Amino acid sequence: MLMRRTKLIKELKEQSITIVSSGQLVKQSLDQYYPFFVDNNFYYLTNIVQENVYLVIIKGNNQVKTILFLEPFDAHKALWVGTGLSFEAAKKIAQVDEVLPINSFKAVVSSYLTLARSAVFGEINHLYFDFNNSLLEKNNQLTTLVKNFQESYPYLTINNLHPFLSYLRMFKDKNEINNLKKAIEITKEGILLMMKEAQRGMKEHELEAFFHYVLYKHGVRPAFKTIAASGVNATILHYENNNDVINDNELILFDLGASYLGYAADISRTFPISGKFTERQKQYYQLVLTVNKKVIDYLKPGVTNQEVNDYAKSLLAEGLIKMGKITTKEELGKYYYHSIGHFLGLDVHDVGLYTKPFQAGQVFTVEPGLYIKDENIGIRIEDDILITETGNINLSQGIIKEITEIEKFMQKK
Ligand code: GLY
Ligand code: MN
Ligand code: MN
Repeated sequence: MLMRRTKLIKELKEQSITIVSSGQLVKQSLDQYYPFFVDNNFYYLTNIVQENVYLVIIKGNNQVKTILFLEPFDAHKALWVGTGLSFEAAKKIAQVDEVLPINSFKAVVSSYLTLARSAVFGEINHLYFDFNNSLLEKNNQLTTLVKNFQESYPYLTINNLHPFLSYLRMFKDKNEINNLKKAIEITKEGILLMMKEAQRGMKEHELEAFFHYVLYKHGVRPAFKTIAASGVNATILHYENNNDVINDNELILFDLGASYLGYAADISRTFPISGKFTERQKQYYQLVLTVNKKVIDYLKPGVTNQEVNDYAKSLLAEGLIKMGKITTKEELGKYYYHSIGHFLGLDVHDVGLYTKPFQAGQVFTVEPGLYIKDENIGIRIEDDILITETGNINLSQGIIKEITEIEKFMQKK
């Protein structure tokens, strides 16, 4: 049994059944579907990436049974789009007790809810579903499923699985850290290729293409929409058009990451298209870089998200006051308008408790920035930090960010 599932099961109420869905394909038009993204909680509990699969956990009378329901082999589908996982393969990957065809899902779960099974697991009183409020509105499948169970078994208490999974997912195990490291390593290779290929007069998406080439070469995909924003575009935090010409003397801000086995890298780097910073760009860049490094040093167990944010803000404001760009700390909001970071993992903005002090095993981004519209400058420098017992490890330490290193690297091309 997967360790993370064992941890979850410990938290579940006795005499309960838990149901987690992998999600469905969503139609784009006619016979086209949007790319499938597996539900991250389902993946976390099964290691399986396939649509229309259910994980069911039955916990009763001090026993636990795990069942996976998936589509059986379909000869027609096999000819057109290939086969999904075999039952044997799914059983091995997910380490479940039993694999059954999806069309038996309702009947089998119902049978565990009726007295026929009570001799083994006893009477079931609780159902668990993964209610993530932000997803729930769109997820008619889950809403219908819950409604059906409620109508058939009105005496059952419905419980939310989401808080347990969000908690567990905050603490990354060795495998997860290795996946993040791999995602960051591929991202680094992509960034270096972009810097090497950068030429005056290019469009933002031309540079983006070099990054995506490296990802595809490694057989992975972007973890989120790549941001390639030059000049004033970089002052739009989630600029995604990437279709402007990069003008001479402009900085280009990249916010990007590879996804490796589901784990997201999230890195921002900013460099001059010409290979050389102007004096003014240098001043702002150096300030953001100093804040990036100081905040990373500050991040450790016991510190809160609020404290880290306040610290970053005070450093940025101090710097801008020194430069004469602002006169009071309150003015910082004109040039810095996001928070310092977020948890990172299967989701790029990962689940986690932002109100509790940081603890070892968590991964958090540090991404200070400055966005100076009136000077055509946007800068963000983002690293991915693993919090440890004694402090932290910067997982993206090896990705070039010093002014002299950037200039040297870009001159060499
Ligand atoms: N890539 C989005 C962010 O840095 O939060
Ligand atoms: Mn980012
Ligand atoms: Mn980020």
